[in-house]
Amino acid sequence: MAFPESFIQELKMRNSITEVVAPYVSLKRNGRNMVGLCPFHGEKTPSFNIYDENTDNAHFYCFGCGVGGDVISFVMRIENLDYVDAVKLLAQRAGMDLPETGYDDSMSRLRKRIFEANREAARFYYKSLYQPVGREGLNYLHGRMLTDRTIRHFGLGFADDDWSSLTKHLKSLGFSEHELVAANLAVQRRSGNGVFDRFTNRVMFPIIDLRGNVIAFGGRIMTDQKPKYLNTSDTPVFKKSENLFSLNNAKNAGTRTLLLCEGYMDVIAVSQAGFSNAVATLGTALTQEQAMLMKRYADEVIICYDADEAGQKATSRAIPILRGAGLPVRVLTIPNGKDPDEFIKSQGADGPEAFRAIIEKSGNDMDYRLQKLRGDYDLETSDGKVQYLEAASAVIATLDSAIEQDVYAAKLCREFGVDKNAFMTQLQKRSKRRSREAYRRQQQKLRKDLSGRGDRINIDKARVPRSSSAEEALVVYLIRNPDAAPFIAAQVKPEQFQNALMRRFYTYFSERVQSGADPMLNVTADFTPDEANILYQIIGKHASIAQTRQSLEEYIKVIREESVKLRQDEVSGMSGEDLNAYLEKLRKVKQ
Ligand code: GTP
Ligand code: MN
Repeated sequence: MAFPESFIQELKMRNSITEVVAPYVSLKRNGRNMVGLCPFHGEKTPSFNIYDENTDNAHFYCFGCGVGGDVISFVMRIENLDYVDAVKLLAQRAGMDLPETGYDDSMSRLRKRIFEANREAARFYYKSLYQPVGREGLNYLHGRMLTDRTIRHFGLGFADDDWSSLTKHLKSLGFSEHELVAANLAVQRRSGNGVFDRFTNRVMFPIIDLRGNVIAFGGRIMTDQKPKYLNTSDTPVFKKSENLFSLNNAKNAGTRTLLLCEGYMDVIAVSQAGFSNAVATLGTALTQEQAMLMKRYADEVIICYDADEAGQKATSRAIPILRGAGLPVRVLTIPNGKDPDEFIKSQGADGPEAFRAIIEKSGNDMDYRLQKLRGDYDLETSDGKVQYLEAASAVIATLDSAIEQDVYAAKLCREFGVDKNAFMTQLQKRSKRRSREAYRRQQQKLRKDLSGRGDRINIDKARVPRSSSAEEALVVYLIRNPDAAPFIAAQVKPEQFQNALMRRFYTYFSERVQSGADPMLNVTADFTPDEANILYQIIGKHASIAQTRQSLEEYIKVIREESVKLRQDEVSGMSGEDLNAYLEKLRKVKQ
C-alpha cells in the first residue's frame, strides 16, 4: 500500500472533487450530480458527471467515453502523473504534509530515475555539441540556420557515433543498465550481455513535458540515410500519442492560438522567427488525446503542415480531430510546396515578416475544404456543378453550428445561383443524419467496451457473458450495501466467480466491507488504472438501476448456476461416472 488510508481519507476530504475538476471543466449542477463537457474526449453535449454526495466515494464518470475514477485518478489522467505524484500534488494543494516514509513504490521510483537519466542525457548531448566530437552536429545545425541561442533554448544536442559514450557516462553517474533500457536511452545486446546507446550519430531534440521533465528524444541523422528521425519508443514516462513537441514553450507564448507543425525543425525555425506558440506531433498522425491537450491551452489552432501531398492529406485528417475537440481551425497555405522551415529560410532576412503575412492570410478549415473539393469536379459542366454542390453540402453538414452552416450555404448558393431554401432543407436532413450516426457510433463503442470484447484487462468478460453480468452486479451491490456482506459471503464463494477480474473485486470488497473499511477509499492505489477504470465503468453502468433484495437473489442464483456449468469441451471429455456426478450437482443447485 502506498500511503496510510487515514492519510488518503483526509486527502480526499480536503480536496473536493468538484473544486479540483473545476479549473479543467466548466460544471453545472444537474440534480444530485455536476455535469460538464468531458476533458478526455471531444463532445458537444455533456456526459461527464461528478458524484460528490459523499466524500468517501466522490467520483467522476463519463458516459460518453467510459472513463471514471476518484479525485486522485482524475489528477493522474489530466496531469499525466503517476499515483504517488498525483497524491503529492493534491497534498500540496490542501496544504498537507506527506507521511514520512513508505510511499515510493517501485514504479514511481523507476519513473523518477528515468526523468533523471533523461535530464543527464540531455546535458551530455548538449555539451557534446560544443566539443570536438560534436563538430559535425554543430555544423549541421548552423547549416540549417539555427543560432546558438535557439540551440540552447531548445537544448539541442549531439549523439556521437561511439555506441557507448552515453551509456558509459550515465553508468558513471550511478544509473543501472536496467534504468537506461527502461528509459530507452540504451538497448539490450542480443547476446544478452550488456547494453549499447540507442542514439548514435544524430543531432538530438529533447522532448520536454509541461513540468519541465525531459521525457524523450528525437534524433535526426545528418545525411540522407534512413530512418531520418529516430524517436524514443514508449516508456513508463512517455507515450508519443499523448505528447506534443514544444508545448512547454508554446503554453507560455502569451497567446491562445497554437501553430501545429509537422516536425521538430519546423517548430524550431518558426520559433526562431518569433512564433513560440508552435508545436508538433512526434512523427505520427494527430490523435484525439493530443487535440484535447491543445484545447487546454488554445482557443484556436492553425495547421502549418507541409504543402506537399502527404502534408495535405495529414491536414484533412487533422481537421475533424481538432474540430471534434472543440477547437476552431485555420489552415496555412505555404507557397511553392515548402514546409514552414524551408519557407522562412527561403525569405532570408524577411522570413519572420513573410511568415506572419501567410499566417494572417490563412483561411478557416471550411474555406480550405470547400476549396480543395473544387479540384475534384469539372465546374464548367452542369453535372459537375451539381455533383460539387452535393459534395459541398456534405462537408457543410459536418459543422455543428447552424449559424456557421447558414453562412457557408449562403455563400455557395450565391456563387452558383441556386435556391437557398432548397439547399438548406437538404443540408438539415444531412446534418440530422450525421449527428444521429455519430451518436450511434459512440454508443456502439461504449457498448463494445462494456461487453469486454477485445478487452485485455477484463479478458473473461466476453467468454462468460451471463455470469460476468451477474458478477458485476453483485460487486456493485456489495459496494452499495455493505450490510448485506455477511449474507452474500455465505451464499457465494470467490471460487464461484468465472470472471477473474470480478473475482478479485469480489474478494477485495468482501474483505474491506466486513472489516468495516470504506470500500472505495483506496481503489486507485490497490488496482492498476485500467482495472480501476473498469470498476468505475461497472458502477456507472449500474448507477441508474435500482438494486433490490430480489435482484440480489437473482445475481446469486445466476452465479451459482454458471459456476457448475462446465464448458462443452470439458463435458465431452468426461467419463460416464464424472458426468453423472456433475449432473447431480447441477440438479441440486437448480433446486
Ligand atoms: P527535416 O528534413 O529535418 O526538415 O525534417 P522535416 O520536419 O521537414 O521532416 P518530415 O516532414 O520528413 O517529417 C516530419 C516529422 O515526421 C519529423 O519531425 C519526425 O517527427 C517525423 N519523421 C520523419 N521521418 C521519420 C522517420 O524516418 N521515422 C520516424 N519515426 N519519424 C519520422
Ligand atoms: Mn523540413
